[in-house]
Amino acid sequence: MKIEGKEYLTIWFENNVVKIIDQTKLPHQFIIKDLKTVKDAINAIKIMEVRGAPLIGATAAYGLVLAILEKNNQSFLKKSAEDLVKSRPTAINLKWAVDRMMSKISGLNSDEILDIAIHEAKEICEEDIKFCENIGLNGLKIIEEIYNKKKDTINILTHCNAGWLATINWGTATSPIYHAHKKGIPVHVWADETRPRNQGANLTSYELNEEGIKNTIIADNTGGILMQRGEVDMCIVGTDRTLSNGDVCNKVGTYLKALAAHDNDIPFYVALPSSTIDWNIKNHKDIPIEERVSEELSHIEGLDDEGNIKKIQIYPKKSVAMNLAFDVTPAKYITGLITEKGICQASEKGLKELFK
Ligand code: MRU
Repeated sequence: MKIEGKEYLTIWFENNVVKIIDQTKLPHQFIIKDLKTVKDAINAIKIMEVRGAPLIGATAAYGLVLAILEKNNQSFLKKSAEDLVKSRPTAINLKWAVDRMMSKISGLNSDEILDIAIHEAKEICEEDIKFCENIGLNGLKIIEEIYNKKKDTINILTHCNAGWLATINWGTATSPIYHAHKKGIPVHVWADETRPRNQGANLTSYELNEEGIKNTIIADNTGGILMQRGEVDMCIVGTDRTLSNGDVCNKVGTYLKALAAHDNDIPFYVALPSSTIDWNIKNHKDIPIEERVSEELSHIEGLDDEGNIKKIQIYPKKSVAMNLAFDVTPAKYITGLITEKGICQASEKGLKELFK
């Protein structure tokens, strides 16, 4: 998608270096950063220079390419794979991508290992782009249905950033929105600010602005009243881990939006590529929920009057803060799952009909 009119992907490989858009600097600075070692890739995932489930997976895949470039040695590769998987715990794509890469390259000692690894990492990215595009085409049908009845701007609420910046291109939750916009359907997005890291304000609103899509940033607690007032036609969010029973683990706050949508009879959709499905965990209590440092809550970054990025403390120094990064929305509150293969019920039956 576009930034200042120029097409970008979120990650690419060039001259043996992995290029990423440093998302910790958006929206105030657009910086393309080089990852040269597997440690760089691990760090980029940890400090969220790259984030969003599919992009984390792609970065881990390229991290293994960097590991081979550093030291073509199987025990280093194995340790790198383990460290990559540990870099963030919740998004299943990370393990999915590392396992997929390792199934192609572990045990290979020949010179071809590098070419095979580069090829597989590229495949992971290209497949994600195709899947996200298909999610968009499938989700478009839902937006069209609502538009055919309403014949007016469709107001869509989303949480966090499940946009193209969270994937390689198109996004998951935003892909139906981009496709609707391209078809001339008037859409307006309510972008939840998404405290504490403000991915909704800093990333979703930013990328929608760059594509010329109308959007309004709202405080995380505003969605409920907008739904009561009839100002939300549908919700679409992403997911970091989708259980086979249809429960969805996504950015903290998603659950509360689903409850409000349920109470107000508003369709609540989750958009996902199949790489976020966890077929093993059966109970959402077993999902590792990331807890990040409380400084992400107690401090905030922005531009000062001179245009410099500044970080300031906003909480009382003595206060304790807790920063859980994800929550689980039970399947019963989800109208449907929008996948690359079609739309299904958020249930084991629905998912199995499409994927097994
Ligand atoms: O902590 P983040 O920014 O990595 O969280 C991202 C989300 O919660 C997204 O909704 C999710 O990864 C889906 S991305 C298509």
